[in-house]
Amino acid sequence: DIREQLEKIENTKGVYEYKKTILDKNGIIGGLMKQMGSVPKEEKADFGKKVNELKNWASEHFDELNTKLKEKEMELRYESEKIDISMPAKSRKTGNLHPVTQVRNQLIDIFASMGFSVYEGTEIETDYYNFTALNTPQDHPARDMQDTFYLSPEFLLRTQTSAGQVHVMESQKPPIKILSPGKVFRSDDDATHSPMFTQMEGLVVDKTITLCDLKGMLEVLVQKIFGEGTTTRLRPSYFPFTEPSVEVDVSCFACGGCGCRLCKGTGWIEVLGAGIVNKKVLENCGIDSEEYSGLAFGIGIERLAMLKYGINNIKLLYQSDMRVLDQINDD
Ligand code: PHE
Repeated sequence: DIREQLEKIENTKGVYEYKKTILDKNGIIGGLMKQMGSVPKEEKADFGKKVNELKNWASEHFDELNTKLKEKEMELRYESEKIDISMPAKSRKTGNLHPVTQVRNQLIDIFASMGFSVYEGTEIETDYYNFTALNTPQDHPARDMQDTFYLSPEFLLRTQTSAGQVHVMESQKPPIKILSPGKVFRSDDDATHSPMFTQMEGLVVDKTITLCDLKGMLEVLVQKIFGEGTTTRLRPSYFPFTEPSVEVDVSCFACGGCGCRLCKGTGWIEVLGAGIVNKKVLENCGIDSEEYSGLAFGIGIERLAMLKYGINNIKLLYQSDMRVLDQINDD
């Protein structure tokens, strides 16, 4: 009977189930053992021996079949789980940082290597820090340069990270070397201006700081951002908080100077405003302007990102369009 049944079993589970019905304490062989009591005395030894032989025989056959079926099952499993290691891997898309964040981080890295540390100011400022302390009092015509969102007569959304200069100079003694990245707000809205954008302020105050230091630092900056061959050019400009003030141009990295649409044929692209910190600003912050001088610059990060990645509309940076954002990954 057992032999016949075993032939029909197709898998190890079947072996296990059938084995239970035969060999378990309550199985058939167990049942035979229990009958021992009713077997006549003289037959007991023989009966016991036969049952034991049957038990050993059955065990052996169960084990044998089990081993055979197990091997077969493993083979099937190997077959079904086989992987083709020559198949091209599925690429798993990871996110990347926003282009503005990438450029911001690149700028921080570049300036950190020159010894700058980061100061993050606040987006809501007082009129005093954003304008008055920066030599731009209430009636100063330069206030017109930055169309401001006022929250109250006293508070406003900062129009420039330059507000951070004042906080830093009020609370730290020279030598000072800080970068202040952050959002700024102006009531502007067109292809190259957005009501909110990001700036990176730089401020150095020490003995004998000159425009040469400024030019040297900015030259390193543009070469790291736009490529080794790029140079800078300073043009006179005006900001109330710097004297002299300059507009910094970078040599056109797109056409190499022969004239293209990006540089409007001039070979130069305006990238940032800068200057030597106005003595009045130093004095407003309690720094002796006879002993110390400073340089400051303000970089528009979106502008840099647009130039670097060839983006022609600032709105593309804020629309979360993956077709745009996916293409920009310098990290
Ligand atoms: N704050 C100026 C602006 O937003 C830029 C600037 C910063 C100019 C520092 C000079 C020095 O236009």
